[in-house]
Amino acid sequence: MSPETTGPAAVIVLAAGAGTRMKSRTPKILHEIGGRSMVGHALLAARAINPLKLALVVRHERDRVAEHVTGLDPEALIVDQDDIPGTGRAVEVALNALDTDAELSGTVVVTYGDVPLLTGQLLGELVATHESEGNAVTVLTAVLDDATGYGRILRAEDGTVTGIREHKDASETERTIREVNSGIYAFDAAVLRTALAKVTTDNAQGEMYLTDVLGLARDAGGRVAAVVTEDRWQVEGANDRIQLSALGAEHNRRIIESWMRAGVTVVDPATTWIDSTVTLDEDVRLLPNTQLHGSTTVARDAVVGPDTTLTDVKVGEGAKVIRTHGSGSTIGAKASVGPFTYLRPGTVLGETGKIGAFYETKNVTIGRGSKLSHLGYAGDAEIGEDTNIGCGNITANYDGEKKHRTVIGSGVRTGSNTVFVAPVTVGDGAYSGAGAVIRKDVPAGALALSLAAQRNAEGWVAANRPGTASAKLAEAAQEPASASTSSPSPATIEEGKQA
Ligand code: UD1
Ligand code: MG
Repeated sequence: MSPETTGPAAVIVLAAGAGTRMKSRTPKILHEIGGRSMVGHALLAARAINPLKLALVVRHERDRVAEHVTGLDPEALIVDQDDIPGTGRAVEVALNALDTDAELSGTVVVTYGDVPLLTGQLLGELVATHESEGNAVTVLTAVLDDATGYGRILRAEDGTVTGIREHKDASETERTIREVNSGIYAFDAAVLRTALAKVTTDNAQGEMYLTDVLGLARDAGGRVAAVVTEDRWQVEGANDRIQLSALGAEHNRRIIESWMRAGVTVVDPATTWIDSTVTLDEDVRLLPNTQLHGSTTVARDAVVGPDTTLTDVKVGEGAKVIRTHGSGSTIGAKASVGPFTYLRPGTVLGETGKIGAFYETKNVTIGRGSKLSHLGYAGDAEIGEDTNIGCGNITANYDGEKKHRTVIGSGVRTGSNTVFVAPVTVGDGAYSGAGAVIRKDVPAGALALSLAAQRNAEGWVAANRPGTASAKLAEAAQEPASASTSSPSPATIEEGKQA
């Protein structure tokens, strides 16, 4: 490996805490922002600096956390913290677990599982400073208006970092310090190992403080320094739902800003939410109240929104998707969807095709140029090219036990309210009449009619709804017709209406 690609010896992600303030059955670090769990964000930042090894320390809800982490990053080493509490103990058990083959040497980075906006770039800067200055410990710090609760950075008169004092152990004077410990550090592995062996639980919280390593490293003659970040969001943790939503909003703001820089128009960033896993091309336009989730991709010149939520949807070049709720679907180039359309998984709409207003689709492949314009359901079906499905058509795919397929060819024209009772096949170029119930296959080019003869019960309204407005209008409409066999003049129609 070239020096550029060689990262630190290890990253240790701390995630053993209980996260009680979330008041949740879900472990804190599994809560999501931007479509990814907080620990998922932490792992991505850690992997971005190419560590040789990555360990995650667990304890609270360890099985659920371990399963989730292994699913995201199978190479991550899951380490269990024992009964001894504190960040120092968490790092010590991780080091012991990582040391199995040979003792680690070089740089060990420590981060938290609940700091979701931290980027690989800032971690990389921390490591670069640590290594170029030959430090024993380099701590990432930030200057906050309100430092309550945080460990404070202690500096000598000349500015050298001398240690960290936890809020609970700090004096009144120390509590006025606004430079805080982010909890993210780069350590020299050997210094860290030696210092941790000396850390006690003799403090206000009865915990092994990782922060004590700084003072111990200095006492042993090592250089201790800080990298101060201006970007406080990158070191901010989520301890409760209020912080979770604030971090989520900031994450979204950053994602939207980066897409706008990349050539995407976002009309209303405040009501647009984009997961970090979404990809957008140049000249995409997102209209207000649009949410894009999961593996959604939107190609050049497509317009999405307003009021649209897409999860794992592929939107083709120049397509339009208006007021739509969709998942697991593909929308072809220059196709149009909406308004008020529900795309369920497995919907594939061909180029220039249309799924119009009040349509629900599921597991259906629609060929190029075919249109399902209004009011219907298409499920478990295959529709060819340039077919026009009339208003109110439905594939009756479910017999109460099983789902069946409907296959409709190309160049088909179906009448309004056609029902396809699956399994059924309609050949190319076939037509159906309004209200047809297609129970049998329709050959290519045939007109399918399922006619029940219409019967008009003359005078039914007068006999059964006497005195109603309908009856009066019906009577008026009949009078001129019965008075003369010729067509009524406009004047007699007017009189009839007034009667
Ligand atoms: C810690 C720091 C403090 C810093 C702050 C930043 C110590 C002693 N203090 O304080 O200087 O300003 O973070 O947020 O390190 N964890 C474990 N095992 C444990 C305890 C904690 O894995 O036994 C993990 C937690 O899951 C969490 C992180 O370590 O991800 C920090 O723990 P927390 O209890 O929040 O530390 P603080 O007291 O806030
Ligand atoms: Mg904390």
